Amino acid sequence: MKEKIKSLVKEKNAIILAHNYQPPEIQDVADLCGDSLELSIKASRTDAEVIVFCGVHFMAETASILSPQKTVLLPRRDAGCLMADMITAESLANKINTLPPMPIVTYVNSTADVKALSTICCTSANVVKVANSLDAEEMLMTPDRNLAMYTAAQTGKKIHAWDGYCPSHERLLPEDVIAAREAHPEAEFIAHPECRPEIHAMADVITSTSGMIRHAQASKAKSFIVGTEVGLIYPLQKANPDKKFFPASKKMLCKNMKKISIEDIVRSLENMEGEVKVPEDIRVPALSAVERMINL
Ligand code: 13P
Ligand code: SF4
Repeated sequence: MKEKIKSLVKEKNAIILAHNYQPPEIQDVADLCGDSLELSIKASRTDAEVIVFCGVHFMAETASILSPQKTVLLPRRDAGCLMADMITAESLANKINTLPPMPIVTYVNSTADVKALSTICCTSANVVKVANSLDAEEMLMTPDRNLAMYTAAQTGKKIHAWDGYCPSHERLLPEDVIAAREAHPEAEFIAHPECRPEIHAMADVITSTSGMIRHAQASKAKSFIVGTEVGLIYPLQKANPDKKFFPASKKMLCKNMKKISIEDIVRSLENMEGEVKVPEDIRVPALSAVERMINL
């Protein structure tokens, strides 16, 4: 199957991008693995004609927003994001009408039509930089309330938070961290900003998935309690074979991130199946929010 993927990739002039939470066998066949920001940048700069996105729907949409001339394939169309589904363009438009004029900062974990109503996008890797880049002391952040509270704490700005969250990160509770710290007292606790604010307060470091990989490489610590989706343990271990990684909670699993199989990639490439294309009337305003972020 892996040989077949290699020859299909060549034949179709394709590139395979995989998020850091994807299963090991998918990460191993990908041309690039990364966090949402790295994948967005790669999607905007590749020469390939076809992008196979091994992640969830909003990631493939972002690639289509950035590269309308390319074919973007999501090998499983039902790989969605529960947090992205917690806001719609209609509900955002209604909210905007209740607030005085202010910038709308939208996490890339959102649908294209929500991005289209936004001033600028952000990821977990650049959210503080994005908020600080705005000449405003007040803003609305969507859809992740935990990321919004993290940004308010880091920047001192007044942030109106949309009431969305990632169920996989929300499941991590302070008692899980206490138990993990007791079991591994020598380990650093690294957490994702999508975790609850109580968890932020307990963390040694708060950063994106790729930020965690870089931090583990740079840190003197030899072991880490990992407060993000359990799939990150694989790239962490691969990049740091002499260090130890323990999930903060095994409940931190995103089923949508585990849907794509090697067979799905083969079928998708063979039949050019699972294309994600954002219509121009949404793509153009969404592009301005995504590009504003990438150009920072
Ligand atoms: P990052 O890899 O950008 O930190 O994103 C985490 C996530 O939840 C993606 O779905
Ligand atoms: Fe969405 Fe959370 Fe899954 Fe990421 S981990 S795709 S934010 S539900």
